Amino acid sequence: MKNLEATSIRYLNGTLEVLDQHQLPHQEIWLTCDSADDMIAMIKRLQIRGAPLIGIGASLLLAHLAEQGMEHTRLQSEAARLRAARPTAVNLMNNLDTMLTALDQHGSQALAATAEALFEEDVKLCDQMSRNGAELIQPNSRILTHCNTGSLATAGAGTAIGVIDQLQRQGKTPHVFVDETRPLLQGGRLTAWEMKRLGVDYTLICDNMAAILMAQGKVDAILVGSDRIAANGDFANKVGTYSLAVNAHYHEVPFYVVAPYTTVDPECPNGAAIPIEQRGAQEVQGVSGSFGDVCWSPEDAPVYNPAFDVTPAKLVTGWILDTGVYTQEDIAEGVLSQLK
Ligand code: MRU
Repeated sequence: MKNLEATSIRYLNGTLEVLDQHQLPHQEIWLTCDSADDMIAMIKRLQIRGAPLIGIGASLLLAHLAEQGMEHTRLQSEAARLRAARPTAVNLMNNLDTMLTALDQHGSQALAATAEALFEEDVKLCDQMSRNGAELIQPNSRILTHCNTGSLATAGAGTAIGVIDQLQRQGKTPHVFVDETRPLLQGGRLTAWEMKRLGVDYTLICDNMAAILMAQGKVDAILVGSDRIAANGDFANKVGTYSLAVNAHYHEVPFYVVAPYTTVDPECPNGAAIPIEQRGAQEVQGVSGSFGDVCWSPEDAPVYNPAFDVTPAKLVTGWILDTGVYTQEDIAEGVLSQLK
């Protein structure tokens, strides 16, 4: 496979490496990924994360295993194990389906070119949706975003953060309110790191401060990513997205979801059919990262920890995809079912 390089994944001279997102923003450590076990563990620990990027990571790994001589049936079984690493992000399943089709039709020697194409396609998709989104947003807008949807979550500039990056490049100088995003702090740790790198003016807030900002008229638009968009426009994203959408609706703040077509699941009829990953209690009982491990609750405190929630289509102002920007009317006409 040829050399490929993005902000948080790289394939250089036959070695696949992942930037350990668990250690950001304080330490930039690259981890070598040599097996499906390595990749699955990194996905589960969110050392590699973001719907598009886990799909790309799993594809590169499969191609790497093929280049090392792994035979056809073993590649199929490793793909099945990778597929189960995170249940909500459909990009993982979509990319692995593309890889398995190439394997069945052309053999294991076709996997390198397929993984390269998926990587390069993701960069282009980011660019297209970023440009589509940037056309909707006025100069000097105050944008609120949730979780991390940037170059750490994709092979390119990102989805919601891709739009912010594009606005900044076009001189439209956005100001970004960054939700810290409990429990794993992807906003406070990762999006803040990305805003600083992009030179975007930003303010970090706790998740429960978003409503007062909206009530004070300080938010012009909300941009979020997605892990899976159902055929009817309902979508899953990092837990907390739904409460932002409810608040946006109440305060009449435009609320956009930004995603590539690889996040759309036309076979999923609505949000109720999207599988939601449940995660461990310790993530809510405390926090862990480059700053160490802290448990602030009683150690046996009972916990509910869904990693994602579903926002119903009726709360969405627009779906910003690489193929265009879709309205409630477009979605009702079934545009998402025709994307593939
Ligand atoms: O659990 P994470 O950090 O992988 O969740 C990420 C998100 O929810 C993103 O919004 C989504 O994957 C889209 S990223 C381009």
